[in-house]
Amino acid sequence: CGIVGYIGFRDAYPILIKGLHRLEYRGYDSAGVALLNTDKELSVYKAKGRVNDLEEYVKDKDISGTIGIAHTRWATHGEPSNANAHPHYSQTESIALIHNGIIENYAVLKAELLKKGYKFQSSTDTEVLVQFIEYVQNLNNCDLFSAVQIALNQVVGAYAIAIVEKGNPDQIIAARKSSPLVIGIGEGEFFLGSDASPIIEYTNKVIYLNDEEIALIKRNDEPKVFTISNVETTHEIKELELNLSELERGGFPHYMLKEIYEQPQTLKNCMSGRVNVEGTNITLSGIIDYKDKFINARRIIIIACGTSWHAGLIGEYLFEEFCRIPVEVEYASEFRYRNPVIYEDDVVIAISQSGETADSLAAIELARKAGAFVYGVCNVIGSSIPRNTDSGSYTHCGHEIGVASTKAFTAQVTVLTMMALAIAKEKNTIEESRYLDLIKELQNIPAKIEKILEHDDKIKQLSKIFTYAQNFIYLGRGYSYPIALEGALKLKEISYIHAEGYPAAEMKHGPIALIDNEMPIVAIGTNNNIYDKVVSNIQEIKARKGRVIAIINEGDEDIKKMADHYIEIPATEECLDPLLSCIPLQLLAYHIAVNKNRDVDMPRNLAKSVTVE
Ligand code: G6P
Repeated sequence: CGIVGYIGFRDAYPILIKGLHRLEYRGYDSAGVALLNTDKELSVYKAKGRVNDLEEYVKDKDISGTIGIAHTRWATHGEPSNANAHPHYSQTESIALIHNGIIENYAVLKAELLKKGYKFQSSTDTEVLVQFIEYVQNLNNCDLFSAVQIALNQVVGAYAIAIVEKGNPDQIIAARKSSPLVIGIGEGEFFLGSDASPIIEYTNKVIYLNDEEIALIKRNDEPKVFTISNVETTHEIKELELNLSELERGGFPHYMLKEIYEQPQTLKNCMSGRVNVEGTNITLSGIIDYKDKFINARRIIIIACGTSWHAGLIGEYLFEEFCRIPVEVEYASEFRYRNPVIYEDDVVIAISQSGETADSLAAIELARKAGAFVYGVCNVIGSSIPRNTDSGSYTHCGHEIGVASTKAFTAQVTVLTMMALAIAKEKNTIEESRYLDLIKELQNIPAKIEKILEHDDKIKQLSKIFTYAQNFIYLGRGYSYPIALEGALKLKEISYIHAEGYPAAEMKHGPIALIDNEMPIVAIGTNNNIYDKVVSNIQEIKARKGRVIAIINEGDEDIKKMADHYIEIPATEECLDPLLSCIPLQLLAYHIAVNKNRDVDMPRNLAKSVTVE
């Protein structure tokens, strides 16, 4: 879900709507806005669907006023509907509130309020919170700010909230716990966002709220921040590094395509300052002070979700091969709930594009409590994971807007590769000449990706043949196995075609039963130490009349003869091949989804950043 707020001298509505569009990637099954006009009247408008639907709905409504809050929702409690959309009103309709997160004890609070005669319009936990705040205010006969503080002390769960009050056009109250919230500081105006993207256009000065903090944002006054136990806290004003052009589509029809095409540059940015100019050494500032932690690590545990988890799988191959450290790769959501064994000399690496994924954050907390050293690999600067880890490396690939992750994935893999090489060097588990060769080849990767992008037209043509396929299988072995998983995920996410990624050799233990002359199989057959085995797997598929789309190295005549279709990519070192072989799979998924008229940047039911558990 996404939050945006404004108080200042301009009309709030256009700023809020623009902000919602920027935040739509965080969830988008309904949207709403609350505004106070010059008569201090509070109006709430909301609509199921996209932000455009909300704009349509408010066409004949009063949208005047210089203060307001707005929300785009990704349903957790209650189906997407007008009633369940935010903002929610209190009983007397004098308070409006928007919320990201989950109030876990909402049922107990709701039961209590129902007993007292409160009526509810929606089935959300958020409405319970706003009603509860009003209840607390009446009970204590206090101002709204104190009521929010008292109420939040009784709430269990996660929240980023923003509140406005009828009759009070001069303040917004905001608070957070386990869900991010940023205040933008302008000249005589203030902004609020669940991330910086709705704010950046107006100011680069921000305050990040910490957990259990509540802010009073008053017109013409510096925002004041308190803990929910009413201790005033001081905050340094930070400067944002995000720039606006990163947020625009730059001539591409979709953000996803733009982000795919950005990868040669984003990988250069990711390596810049880390691989030295001579190309003879890698230095990651996050590792320098913690070398011993890595050298003496009993084990590395990688935790992540979604695409980041796939990057983690590649990390496993890299760290085991080069650093000789045993690695486990865990879904954060599984790890945190199964009482895992964590040693103090374990190194935990948390990978996350957004740095806000709730399950990953909770897994980190668990690991830190157990005394492990936790390293973050994140993209969003200043997000929660980098702030809650012992050290880390940013992926530096710029703001990723397409919900289906592309450039963040390749940057994550690049960071993990640099980490594995740097640590192997420190540990003496890699020969100098090999180390130098790999650094050199890593630097060639951006140019090789450029070459693959030149095949985009061919991939587009190929996509047309498979637009109406019902299922897909993706196969790979070794370093290509995680790419098979990632390729399948990309297709599922944006085209809604069922796809499965599988280790190629495992195919004969089950999925082979699915193969007939209708089944497309994407086989990653780039050159590696088990190339011959992959060739055999392709023969097994052809013997059952499956339709093979092979990803091969340039000039590989053997697989070309066997496959129905092929996409050629430049050869590289086996451990770097994922950075190349994922590119045609990103493009294939993209074009199939476009052929099917799917909403590529905002696929149904998904959210870019999952801040609920
Ligand atoms: C969501 C996104 C995925 C992403 C995953 C993990 O499901 O749709 O693209 O891979 O979250 O997000 P993170 O920000 O932690 O990498």
